[in-house]
Amino acid sequence: MTREKVVLAYSGGLDTSVIVKWLQEKYGYDIVTLTANVGQGDGELTGLKEKAIKTGACEAFVEDLREELVRDYIFPMVRSGAIYEGKYLLGTAIARPLIGKKLVEIAEKVGAKAIAHGATGKGNDQVRFEFAIKALNPYMKIIAPWREWNLRSRTDCMEYASKHGIPISATAEEPYSIDRNIWHISFEGGILEDPAVEPDKDMFRLTCDPVDAPDEPEELTIGFEQGIPVSVNGVKLTPVELIDKLNQIAGRNGVGRVDIVENRLLGMKSRGIYETPGGSVIAYAHRELEQYTMDRETYHFKENMALKYAELVYYGLWFTPLREALDGFISKTQELVNGTITLRLYKGNVCVVGRESENTLYHHGMVTFEADDLFEQKDAQGFINLYGLPLKIKGIMDRKRKKELQEVRTN
Ligand code: ARG
Repeated sequence: MTREKVVLAYSGGLDTSVIVKWLQEKYGYDIVTLTANVGQGDGELTGLKEKAIKTGACEAFVEDLREELVRDYIFPMVRSGAIYEGKYLLGTAIARPLIGKKLVEIAEKVGAKAIAHGATGKGNDQVRFEFAIKALNPYMKIIAPWREWNLRSRTDCMEYASKHGIPISATAEEPYSIDRNIWHISFEGGILEDPAVEPDKDMFRLTCDPVDAPDEPEELTIGFEQGIPVSVNGVKLTPVELIDKLNQIAGRNGVGRVDIVENRLLGMKSRGIYETPGGSVIAYAHRELEQYTMDRETYHFKENMALKYAELVYYGLWFTPLREALDGFISKTQELVNGTITLRLYKGNVCVVGRESENTLYHHGMVTFEADDLFEQKDAQGFINLYGLPLKIKGIMDRKRKKELQEVRTN
């Protein structure tokens, strides 16, 4: 009789290696691993299939999801303007639904009954994976070893690994919990758990320290079509190339670092450090272009919506009717978000130095301080009289009441 299969989200690190063995022992499953290439870098991917098999998997998939991640997840999020709690560009959160989707696809392909992941019981990632899985295949069994086993720490995992002959890399384990993809890298844990302490200078990978950035500012131009970034300095690029390019440019200028104490979905606050160099300049330029091309009411409405969108992404509510409906609205708002934005980067800072768009609503004649024959200044008086009428009425009534009160007192 063939054994049942489980598909495991496999990074090749200590935890997921231990999970391979643990799943075999505890459940007697055949293990199929899926490693999602979301841009974590070749270093983390080479030799991974072999490693998975050596560790005990019967089949190992490595899927390049970068293009799909950028096109169908990151760019729609950029168009929404979502930023969590004013700082976090959602790099980890946005990749999870896609990984969940691929897990379901592979599970269905190989006929697996269950999906397992290595996210811990305290974090957001377990929620995001499992919401995606539930939405796309509600009958799939989900196994989260960190919520089940009695391994409590890294040391426990190391012991388990050596007892079971699990190959673990000779390189020293990172002192942080790291998650990297094409959009960002995040660091949590270790010394970062003390919010009073700043990280080591050598922790950062995608950005240089602003203090060490070049003394000359660097300018760059990003071109957008319907709110999607399509070119850098006039050169058309694929979504993946574009982000790689902007990561380099912004990274060498020290742009894109964030240090935040954020509210997790499970209720606790946690301290994280993020590097999102390319993402930071894309988000900045996109907002500039919206301000230049979008009518006031839509822009203001969309600003509020961005808060909700960020919450949905952070909470892992990607495959939901609300997120889809918001995307429908947002697509409509982006039809005229076309043009180029030129930014200047300097030692960790970004500022806008130029805007161009055929769809701009900026009308020079309307706003100029010079003489014009378009705008009738006299009209402003009627506008102020009517728009200000409610507050004028309130002023009148307040005074009237105060006067009546005084009369009552003096009589
Ligand atoms: N706090 C961030 C988030 O919830 C980053 C999580 C990083 N995940 C990790 N497994 N290290 O999106």
